[in-house]
Amino acid sequence: MKSNTEKFGKAPHQPSLWTRADALKVHADDPTTTQPLVSADFPVLSNEVFIWDTMPLRDLDGNITSVDGWSVIFTLTADRHPNDPEYIDENGNYDITRDWNDRHGRAKMYYWFSRTGKDWKLGGRVMAEGVSPTAREWAGTPILLNEQGDVDLYYTAVTPGATIVKVRGRVVTTEHGVSMVGFEKVKPLFEADGKMYQTEAQNPFWGFRDPWPFRDPNDGKLYMLFEGNVAGERGSHKVGKAEIGDVPPGYEDVGNSRFQTACVGIAVARDEDGDDWEMLPPLLTAVGVNDQTERPHFVFQDGKYYLFTISHTFTYADGVTGPDGVYGFVADSLFGPYVPLNGSGLVLGNPSSQPFQTYSHCVMPNGLVTSFIDSVPTDESGTQIRIGGTEAPTVEIKIKGQQTFVVAEYDYGYIPPMLDVTLE
Ligand code: FRU
Repeated sequence: MKSNTEKFGKAPHQPSLWTRADALKVHADDPTTTQPLVSADFPVLSNEVFIWDTMPLRDLDGNITSVDGWSVIFTLTADRHPNDPEYIDENGNYDITRDWNDRHGRAKMYYWFSRTGKDWKLGGRVMAEGVSPTAREWAGTPILLNEQGDVDLYYTAVTPGATIVKVRGRVVTTEHGVSMVGFEKVKPLFEADGKMYQTEAQNPFWGFRDPWPFRDPNDGKLYMLFEGNVAGERGSHKVGKAEIGDVPPGYEDVGNSRFQTACVGIAVARDEDGDDWEMLPPLLTAVGVNDQTERPHFVFQDGKYYLFTISHTFTYADGVTGPDGVYGFVADSLFGPYVPLNGSGLVLGNPSSQPFQTYSHCVMPNGLVTSFIDSVPTDESGTQIRIGGTEAPTVEIKIKGQQTFVVAEYDYGYIPPMLDVTLE
């Protein structure tokens, strides 16, 4: 396995590294980087469906956008099966935990609308059954393109394979609600190439998903972030000096951390419409640190690039750990170098007493952070849990230079618009 310099030698930029030394600075339960406890008596959006990854409608500059006064979110969604014999256990009870854990295999894109930026009403499925080419409709980004209401939904078509795709439709409003119409033709954009980004053939546990298109505030070009793993056969990656970083004596042993190879990918559009893309080397790699940097996204603030990505405890490498939550990095220019926020990268993690309370955080340019409730303990020992599948309380963070601070908490699923577009 080659080092970053050898591998991306003639590339326009070298990926920044999230090192093992950086990750040693990650500490759960620092109040400035920990999500407040979610109470077990949370309300659920729907008794019919689970929702998890939440994707607010926005423009290419990142602004959360309402249309004719209606806020719109898209969610990964799966039916709940309280009466399905398949999910009834031997005592005759609904095994909601198993139903929830199986949800990824039947994930579909749904949309919701609201007048208040909360109290979401279910709109329905974005694409009719049969439109999307694969079994799973995984995360992405809905982009409002113009005042005619055209929407490009970028998402991940998974199983078989994992392809970044997009489908164009339109948002239509009335005084009673919102509909999504015409999402009928899915266009494949690109897949992992095996040279920069790991393929399924190289690693059956590869990740390649979660497109987040944006217009660079400086050069005005159209780019896209996505989640990937660094290319190469599973087990062949080298965790060398650069990946280890400046560790104290006794921390040189990297164990089996060569199996953790996450990266944040980037592609640039060759055309204005974003139909033709070229993958570039990753912006950030976490070889030897973590295996998943999911749903990467930016906040552009104070002339800086704040890169956020979600990750898990279970995807950390041997010898390093951290809570489930959102991590962040900052640079002065798009291609880096990126420095971990708060020294470690950790921006908002779950408290250790409720390690799975929330996930899939999305930091919006107004500092609000939305996420979903996964599971919350209902007894002291943490053996009894309540499954969520619904929106978590929104948290506000303040971003200052290379630091972030938790400063406020709001209602469940509070995603207010940053601007309103009146449709023609
Ligand atoms: C994050 C995530 C995404 C993926 C989806 C699958 O919660 O793992 O990376 O698109 O969930 O359900």
